[in-house]
Amino acid sequence: NSDILILGIESSCDDTSAAVIKNDKILANITAGQDVHKLYGGVVPELASRAHQKHIVPVVSQALAQANISAGDLDAIAYTRGPGLLGSLLVGSSFAKSMAQALGIPAIPVHHMKAHVLAHFIDSHLPVPPFPFLNLTVSGGHTQIIKVSDPFTFDVIGQTLDDAAGEAFDKSAKLLGLPYPGGPEIDRQAKSGDKNRFTFTKPKVEGLSFSFSGLKTNFRNFVEKETRRNADFKRDNMADLCASIQHTIVEMLMERLVEAAALTGIKHVAIAGGVSANSYLRTQLVAVADKYGWQTYIPPFEYCTDNGAMIAIAGYFEFQNKERDTSLSTSATARWE
Ligand code: KG4
Ligand code: ZN
Repeated sequence: NSDILILGIESSCDDTSAAVIKNDKILANITAGQDVHKLYGGVVPELASRAHQKHIVPVVSQALAQANISAGDLDAIAYTRGPGLLGSLLVGSSFAKSMAQALGIPAIPVHHMKAHVLAHFIDSHLPVPPFPFLNLTVSGGHTQIIKVSDPFTFDVIGQTLDDAAGEAFDKSAKLLGLPYPGGPEIDRQAKSGDKNRFTFTKPKVEGLSFSFSGLKTNFRNFVEKETRRNADFKRDNMADLCASIQHTIVEMLMERLVEAAALTGIKHVAIAGGVSANSYLRTQLVAVADKYGWQTYIPPFEYCTDNGAMIAIAGYFEFQNKERDTSLSTSATARWE
């Protein structure tokens, strides 16, 4: 039988996730989050590594059980090699390589940001983007516009000069006293807010680059100034503040995406990464696409934030790539272009 079964393991940040894919169909996708970080308002790397150690065996066992297969049925194990937190990556990559070696099957290193994009190719009954397409990849650590020419060829045509879009969400949320991770909280609160109530200055940046650090400072100065006048300013205006900052971040993303589409002449436009779970970004993309005649591709929610399924689909492509890396001495790397 020519079906390919791959186990995908993701451990780059604070989610331990394992998925089983049969060709492009997900049979199981299990994620254990880490609540310990809530106490600190951000991910504490040392605690993340320890939690991965605790979660990795049960998460993988559960994924295999839910997929109703045994480890011996697997053709390969794909793992996140980077970029991410080194201690976290080491847990998933060491586990994946050891398990692959024990089973006598290949261990396939996967690039986390490429995997976010390849999530579009998971069979989820949604249209799949044709090549070449543009992908706005927005996560907690990255903000990139990518020209994707085939499953292995990714050209970064624009990226952030400082903070990532997810960081802009998370840092704004922290300033407002919302729990970590702040992105989903801002999304939720913004639903009942007025996006035009407050305006924040958007920086002028060359080319297709993004910059979010100025916005963060602008937002902090504004909130602190207003709080000096009214101690309850945040509480009284929470929904409007969330809607307004979210609107500004999403506008900055969409403006660049419009320029990238015009420059490249590509009208197939996709989003991926944790921030692509944002409901306002999703509706704005559709609105802008209507205006410019784009076709859009938006992953299902469960494949936006970090997940094993995207690692498994990237592994599925890589498994069929004759030039793939099969070395067991390939090691995790925090930075990876
Ligand atoms: O892709 P991801 O899960 O992990 C990284 O690779 O970084 O992205 C996490 C980021 C966090 O900054 C989180 O706040 C943001 O994605 N995020 C959101 C939403 N859901 C997750 N940001 C805005 N709105 C959301 N609904
Ligand atoms: Zn991610």
